[in-house]
Amino acid sequence: SIYNCNVIELKKIHNRAGNITPVSGLSDIPFAIKRVYYLYDVPGGEVRGGHAHYELQQLIVAASGSFDVLLDDGKNKKIMTLNRPNFGLLVTPGIWRDLLNFSSGAVLLVLASLPYDETDYIRDYQKFIDYKNES
Ligand code: TYD
Repeated sequence: SIYNCNVIELKKIHNRAGNITPVSGLSDIPFAIKRVYYLYDVPGGEVRGGHAHYELQQLIVAASGSFDVLLDDGKNKKIMTLNRPNFGLLVTPGIWRDLLNFSSGAVLLVLASLPYDETDYIRDYQKFIDYKNES
């Protein structure tokens, strides 16, 4: 459910020359990292996401700038604003997500538990609701 999708505070190694945030799979986050991707150059006003996954787990980080993540488990919804590079939002399987309100220059970094697989996507909202009701 959306109540399992929590913000995880990541390490921040700070010195006068700046910050580093390291993320190791299975120790800093609850899954092994199989894939990394990032969204950038999102035009103002655009909405991305608009899907759920059957199996994929993700950690979403605002590596730069800010955006909102709207989470929906078919029963409840919550909106999370990400705007700090040392915090990540855990998105568990079976959660519909929309990504919106990107600031200019925002970079949405995703650490993912599985390789890319289109068959793991649910891209139709009614299909998502039907899947949640049968499981
Ligand atoms: P999608 O996951 O729908 O993007 P978003 O949730 O940000 O709106 O992916 C958009 C397109 O990119 C889609 O055609 C699949 C492709 N894609 C890959 O080929 N590999 C990947 O790892 C990802 C995340 C997407």
